[in-house]
Amino acid sequence: MRIEVVADEHALAPRAADLICDAALAKPDAVFGLPTGTTPLAAYAEIERRVWGRRADFSRASAFAIDEFAGVPWSTPGTNSMFFRRHLRVPWPLHLPDPAAPDPEAEIRAFAGGVRAAGGFDLCVLGIGVNGHIAFNEPGSARDSRARLVSLTPESRAAHAEAFGSLDAVPARGMTLGVADLLEARALLVLAQGDAKAAPVRDALEGAMTAAVPASWLQGHPDILWLLDEAAASRLDSRAPGPAGAARPRAKKR
Ligand code: GLP
Repeated sequence: MRIEVVADEHALAPRAADLICDAALAKPDAVFGLPTGTTPLAAYAEIERRVWGRRADFSRASAFAIDEFAGVPWSTPGTNSMFFRRHLRVPWPLHLPDPAAPDPEAEIRAFAGGVRAAGGFDLCVLGIGVNGHIAFNEPGSARDSRARLVSLTPESRAAHAEAFGSLDAVPARGMTLGVADLLEARALLVLAQGDAKAAPVRDALEGAMTAAVPASWLQGHPDILWLLDEAAASRLDSRAPGPAGAARPRAKKR
């Protein structure tokens, strides 16, 4: 497990874009898993600029969303389908589960089959929820959980109220790749920024591996980089001043 700490969100975006673009340079037909959320927004904007400025090339790559809401038309403001349409206009095949699928459980299972058929993720990018969720694997998600339909927690629904226009408009359920599906990625890049992520980042990186903090399952992955800003890293023991921090200099400052 590697941890890289940058100053703030402004530094995080270009670094995340570098890492994602580098993966496509190393393997032009790379398969990416991608999250939504506010965290990757600036990185996605940077990737768009590089692609349209011909400084990055994803023409042979493909991408898959890692989750989606369930029970609404894809064109509903707030869906992940709309998110990617607005925020990551890169001419690659971007696969998304259909939020209006009549059988969302079957939809997301078939979608996970599509990821496997494509060869699996070369790089899966993740964010982390304030409650420690990854994709829509909410607290309680087992290490061996697979793609499935889930009920969203009140925290997760509240985080999306603005995007959907109101809390009532946020779907109660989502489709997600499971923890085991995400851990099958050959490499993982987890992005976290801001004070609100300091506690879940600490719990995920330094706490026990537990279903109560789904991101803690990532500790078992052989090729994972946590890219954090100072605020998100602020509660890590390894960042604490004094002997504990000095004895465990895991975090690399750029
Ligand atoms: C969302 C998504 C996750 C995302 C997380 C954090 O609900 N399902 O994939 O990583 O919450 O979002 P944000 O970056 O807005 O904090």
